[in-house]
Amino acid sequence: MEILTAKTAGFCFGVKRAVDFVYGETKSGEKPIYTFGPIIHNKEVVKEMEEMGVSVLPEEVPSEGNGTVIIRSHGVSREVYEGLERAGYKVCDATCPFVKKIHRIVSEKSAEGYNILIAGDPVHPEVKGIIGWSRGPVMAISEPDDIDRIPEDFLRKTCLVAQTTFNYNKFQLFVAKLQKKGYDISVYNSICNATKERQAEARQLSSQTDCMIVVGDVGSSNTQKLFEICKSECPNTHLVQTADDLDVSWLAGAKRVGITAGASTPHKIIEEVQTKCQI
Ligand code: F3S
Repeated sequence: MEILTAKTAGFCFGVKRAVDFVYGETKSGEKPIYTFGPIIHNKEVVKEMEEMGVSVLPEEVPSEGNGTVIIRSHGVSREVYEGLERAGYKVCDATCPFVKKIHRIVSEKSAEGYNILIAGDPVHPEVKGIIGWSRGPVMAISEPDDIDRIPEDFLRKTCLVAQTTFNYNKFQLFVAKLQKKGYDISVYNSICNATKERQAEARQLSSQTDCMIVVGDVGSSNTQKLFEICKSECPNTHLVQTADDLDVSWLAGAKRVGITAGASTPHKIIEEVQTKCQI
C-alpha cells in the first residue's frame, strides 16, 4: 500500500509563525501569558500550551489586566489592540503579515474617503478584525448577490478587499458585478494562496486514492472544506482529529492512501497518522 501525504498539509506560514511566537514567549520567562482567543483551531496544541502556562483570554477586552497578550494570526481590530494596551497588557502581535497588509489598505483607503467592502464571512474573527481598521463606512458580505442590497451611496466610491481564505472565483464575481455598476471601485485581491494551493492539492490527491484521510479539528472551517473537497473525489474519505480516531479497517484493500491536513494541524499529529496507516 502506498501512502501519499500532501506537501501543503498542516500549518500555513502565518499559523506556524503565530504558534512559534507563543512558544518563543514561554521561553522569555515573563508571566502570565495569554492568547486572545485560542491561538489555532486545535485542541491538542491549545492544551499543550496551557500546560506551558499559556491561558486563553475570551475574545473580549477586559477593563484591566497584566501580563502578555498574543494576538493570533487572524488579527484584531484597532479598538481591541488599543483596549488591551489600555487595560495594562503588553501586546505581542502575531497577526499574519498578509492580514496585516489588509489592515493597512483598509486604514489608508478609508482615510482617503473610500467606503470599505469586504468579501468575506462577517462573523469570522479575521473579518471582524479587518472591519475594525476602517476609518469610515465599512461592510462585509459573503455572496455576490448581496451587492444588490448595498445602498448606491456606499458604492459610489468603494474599496474592495477579501478575507484571506475567500473563494477566488466568487471574488471575481464580486469584481465583475461592481465593475458593471460603473462606480469608482478600487480592488485589492487579498486572498492568500496558501488555502487555494492546499485545496487544489487535496482535490488532485483524493482523485488518485482509494482512501483519503483528512487530519484536523472538527471546529476548523478550512479542515471541513478540505474534507468536502476530498469526499467529492474519493467517497472513502475520513476526518480524524488525531491518530486515535483512525480506524485501520478504512484502509482495507486500498492500494493508495492519501493524507492531507488543515492549516491548524501540527506536523507531529500528521506524522502519527502516517505511522498508524503503515502498521
Ligand atoms: Fe496567513 Fe495565508 Fe495562513 S493569510 S494565516 S498564510 S492562510
